Parts: sequence; structure tokens; C-alpha cells
Amino acid sequence: MTTIISNSFLSAFFLLILSSLNFVPLGVSNPPPTCGPVFPPDAVAVYAEDIHFLQFALNLEYLEAEYFLFGALGYGLDQVAQELAMGGPPPKGAKKANLDDLAKRLIEEFGYQEVGHLRVIKSTVGGYPRPLLDLSASNFAAIMDNAFGHHLEPPFDPYANSVNYMLSSYLIPYVGLTGYVGMNPFLNGYKTKRLLGGLLGVESGQDAVIRMYLYERSQELVHPYNYTVAEFTTQISKLRNNLGRCGIKEEGVIVPTNLGAENLTTSNVLSAMSDSKSYGRTPAEILRIVYGTGNEHVPGGFLPNGGDGKIARQLLVPPPYY
Ligand SMILES: *[C@@H]1O[C@H](CO)[C@@H](O)[C@H](O)[C@H]1NC(C)=O
Ligand SMILES: *[C@@H]1O[C@H](CO)[C@@H](O)[C@H](O)[C@H]1NC(C)=O
Repeated sequence: MTTIISNSFLSAFFLLILSSLNFVPLGVSNPPPTCGPVFPPDAVAVYAEDIHFLQFALNLEYLEAEYFLFGALGYGLDQVAQELAMGGPPPKGAKKANLDDLAKRLIEEFGYQEVGHLRVIKSTVGGYPRPLLDLSASNFAAIMDNAFGHHLEPPFDPYANSVNYMLSSYLIPYVGLTGYVGMNPFLNGYKTKRLLGGLLGVESGQDAVIRMYLYERSQELVHPYNYTVAEFTTQISKLRNNLGRCGIKEEGVIVPTNLGAENLTTSNVLSAMSDSKSYGRTPAEILRIVYGTGNEHVPGGFLPNGGDGKIARQLLVPPPYY
């Protein structure tokens, strides 16, 4: 009994001391903390070369914004943030997907995140109108047919259900992620590097959530095909590696151990290279993949008229033959 009383007495005593500490006037013994970062006064915020790299990323951000907004809500940038579309043509074939509650909430959040990304890239380095995007079910079906090397019957429909939609989304933020990693060494301004870090973090997070959703269902068959979710991810990644034409830069959610973390795991929730670093891709590799043609000079796939911005535009003109 006495112990209990003295314990609560002690607690009250310490609480009193603690709360009295809180009453030390701010600024006397507790100056406001510095919240950085503080850049050297002569540091350059944005270098001219940074602009074209970050503008290149707008192609992918437009693709993600429209795909996710439409998938979750049934409408896109023209309803949510019309000024960001800058009068570009509406996406072809985008529509609301038949999503379960979890997938809907995730994809809605991702869609709004892409709106922020578009806004901040444009306010930092400027931009261009939304390019024509092909988000039609038949475009996704063609990609899946390519991934498996034969026609899937019935044609793959990304909008049919949550697993199909997440499989089709597996196609998208990952390309942004590898693009940002690949771009990183070419940026020099502190503001553009800070922006890239912020974009990369969220793209990676989106990719991780999508991969986790698929990993949890990796052994389920994707109805009505005789392929598991894991097999779909493996085939999609192989297709992208083939289109990128620069070796293995991604893997499915289940791998042989020689592709797992430290060569020891068959789970591959995060796709990474040796020492578990994220893979990087150049703009040319990215275009080969999103065009679906394996050729950065030949548009198609998600961007039927090609990407915009100086980098993609210049690549649309084939180099002279030597
Ligand atoms: C489905 O695939 C499995 C393994 O790949 C195979 O053993 C099985 O025979 C296939 N079933 C049908 C109906 O094609
Ligand atoms: C994993 O295997 C690759 C060859 O497949 C090798 O180059 C690499 O050093 C290995 N990594 C570790 C951590 O053992």
C-alpha cells in the first residue's frame, strides 16, 4: 500500500518537473531549431540540362495520372485538374475499372499523387500538353499477348477486375522508377535533385504496393487463363527487358534465387539488382518499352504519336545510318 502511494507520489512529482520544463519560454534556453536544408547562396537551383530530363518524365506522369484516375474514378485530368492537361487530347479507351475496395482506394490515392507530380514538375521546369495516350483494353491485351508470345483468349482486359488492373499497373510506376534512377546522375541543380528524390520515393512506393498486392496472390490463377499471377509478372518483366534491349532490369515477384536478394530469396517483392539497388533506365530504354516497339524512334503502344519534350522529340527522328 505504502509503495503504491509513494510510487504515484513520485510519478506526480516527476510529471510536475517535466511540465515545468515545458514552461521555459521559447527562445530563451530553447531557440527554434533550424529546419533545412539550407543551400549555399551560390548554389544553382535548376541547370538548363536538368529541364529536359524532368520534362521527359512528364510523359510517364501523364500516363500514370490518367490510368489511375480513370481506373479508380472513371474520369481523369480533364475533370480533376484540367489546367495540367494544357489542352492535350483525352486518353483513348481509359475507363473505370471494376475494383475491390482496397484496390480502389490505393489506385485513387496513386492517381491524385500523380496530379501533384505533374503540378510540381511543371512549376519547377515547365512542361507541355498531355500527349495522346492509348489506355484502351486492346492496347493492354496486345502487351500481354507479346509477354506470353501467343494470343490470350479471351483478350486480357485490364479493367475487368482488381487482379487484372493491378497486373496492368505493374506495367507503369516501375518504368517511372527506373527512369528516375537512370536520370539521377544527369541532374545538377539542387532544386531538381530534390524534386527527383521526392518523385522517386513515391513512384517506388507505388510500385512496392502494387507488387505486394500481386505477391500476396502470386499462386492464384488469373481467370480464365492457366497462368498464375507470378507467371504474369515474370512474363511482363521479361517482355520489358527484351524491349529495353539493355539486359535484365527487372524481374517478376517470384524468382530463381540467383535473382533474389543476396542470391538467397525466391520472393522478389521489390525488384532490384546486385546489392539490392534499384535498376535504372535511360530515356531511350524507357521509350522502347512504353512505345512497345523496342525502338525509341518508332512510337506506338501507350504513346501512339510519341512522347513530348526535347528528349523524346529528338529521338523520334531516326539517327543517320552510318
Ligand atoms: C495448366 O498449367 C499447368 C502448369 O503449367 C499444367 O500442368 C496443366 O496441365 C495446365 N492445365 C490446362 C487445363 O491447360
Ligand atoms: C550473386 O550471384 C551473382 C552471379 O549470378 C554474382 O555476380 C554475385 O556476386 C552474387 N552476389 C552475392 C551477394 O553472392
